[in-house]
Amino acid sequence: MFYQVYPRSFADSDGDGIGDLGGVREKLGYLELLGVDALWICPVMRSPMADGGYDVADPRDIDALFGGMAAFDALVAAARTRGLKVTMDLVPNHTSSEHPWFQAALTAAPGSPERARYIFRDGRGPSGDEPPNNWPSIFGGPAWTRVTEPDGTPGQWYLHLFAPEQPDLNWENPEVVADFEQTLRFWLDRGVDGFRIDVAHGMAKPPGLPDMQTVSTKMLIHDDSDPRFNNAGVHDIHRRIRKVIDEYPHAVSIGEVWVDDNTRFGEYVRPDELHLAFNFRLAETPFTADAMRHAIDNSLAAVAPVGAVPTWTLSNHDVEREVTRYGGGAAGLARARAMILVELALPGAVFIYNGAELGLPNVDDLPEEVLQDPVWERSGHTERGRDGCRVPIPWEGDRPPFGFTTCERSWLPIPPDWAGLSVEAQLEELGSTVSLYRLAIELRRLRPEFAGPRIEWYGSPAGCLAFRRPGGLVCVLNASAAPIPLPPGELLLASAPLASGHLPPDAAAWLV
Ligand code: GLC
Repeated sequence: MFYQVYPRSFADSDGDGIGDLGGVREKLGYLELLGVDALWICPVMRSPMADGGYDVADPRDIDALFGGMAAFDALVAAARTRGLKVTMDLVPNHTSSEHPWFQAALTAAPGSPERARYIFRDGRGPSGDEPPNNWPSIFGGPAWTRVTEPDGTPGQWYLHLFAPEQPDLNWENPEVVADFEQTLRFWLDRGVDGFRIDVAHGMAKPPGLPDMQTVSTKMLIHDDSDPRFNNAGVHDIHRRIRKVIDEYPHAVSIGEVWVDDNTRFGEYVRPDELHLAFNFRLAETPFTADAMRHAIDNSLAAVAPVGAVPTWTLSNHDVEREVTRYGGGAAGLARARAMILVELALPGAVFIYNGAELGLPNVDDLPEEVLQDPVWERSGHTERGRDGCRVPIPWEGDRPPFGFTTCERSWLPIPPDWAGLSVEAQLEELGSTVSLYRLAIELRRLRPEFAGPRIEWYGSPAGCLAFRRPGGLVCVLNASAAPIPLPPGELLLASAPLASGHLPPDAAAWLV
């Protein structure tokens, strides 16, 4: 089981209101207690933080904001003594605009080797003042920004699929490939156990950068026919990456792959490409049994032909938290608790986003002046973006910032009514969400009934689903409005108390 740490929001050790690696190290005991096997730490490399660290100015150094290299080495060493693996988040598709390469490209001439590391093009129209194609940026506005040439004249345009501070690299340039290989080795030599690879379906661009047929201005969406992503050349890039990773037999690579088609998704996890790829189907599925069943079947079908391990994720730092996605309030929480039992009953690798184990909801009423996601500015203040799922973790006490930081204010404010959701409030409470997670993770690790790489669907009442693992575990989800009887067997765990032996609505149970 992987646990995703969004370091800005996890724990602050130096009192500046922003989480850091020292904070992660201080909380390793908690993660061990929870039963985590491996950490995925969102980007901590040197960055001006235009996109929370996904804009990297030096991929081989740790930002001072997170404690610098010393804090990183200390974290990796401390994690190792506890038997926890550490995976880093690398960002190969783009750099920060403050990366020395991009700064050099700005002062160099069109056609120069400096510009050839990025995707610079002349503009369209008689004076070149229209972007080279019609692509929008994922964060809103055009995907191209025009530069001023060193002589002061309006010049070429550069491509940025995300914010203008995140220029796309040109992966057809061998220097770009070599540099990324150097980054992989740099961190593997320092003792990390692998990588989450950002926008792993990006990097390769279609020849000639053709216009998009239909241009949606909707932000943060994914569509298989989008020419900006999932181009055939990406697979050679993954093969190159895998060759380096294979020099370190313990290491794992996990790609962020927003691709719906099962066959095309599976291509990313062929034996010589990524080890694992995030499958976002569960994170996008509403709380109905049919939709869940479909998502599970498809996630399994996508990886089966290539013999890869399925992955499961209910949320991350880019999507609405599941409690809110399932309707919020008591029902949203009950459904999220049910879904963690479904997720942990499935064969494969599970990714848990920090705070999910506390049942945190999204915070959709953050004051406008604290919003930091580039989506907020780029949408002209019409879309709030992803800050609502990035609010810091409440650790203890009865008032914000709940032990997250020693200073008065955390970088995003924590709602005062989260006191009951804090780690301290939940840890000793048997019925709490964190206790449910702990117990479920422990059972999954210890019980032989979780064996076997498949599931078999069971008959179940309308609006419900039930499946069995070859080892003997049966998982039942009641997404209907009425209590249901459970199949025969010994009850191992339920996400809500049974009522006269029946599983209530919005609940799941494990039986053996
Ligand atoms: C990925 C990250 C997201 C980031 C984007 C650009 O989708 O998960 O947080 O904004 O890439 O790097």
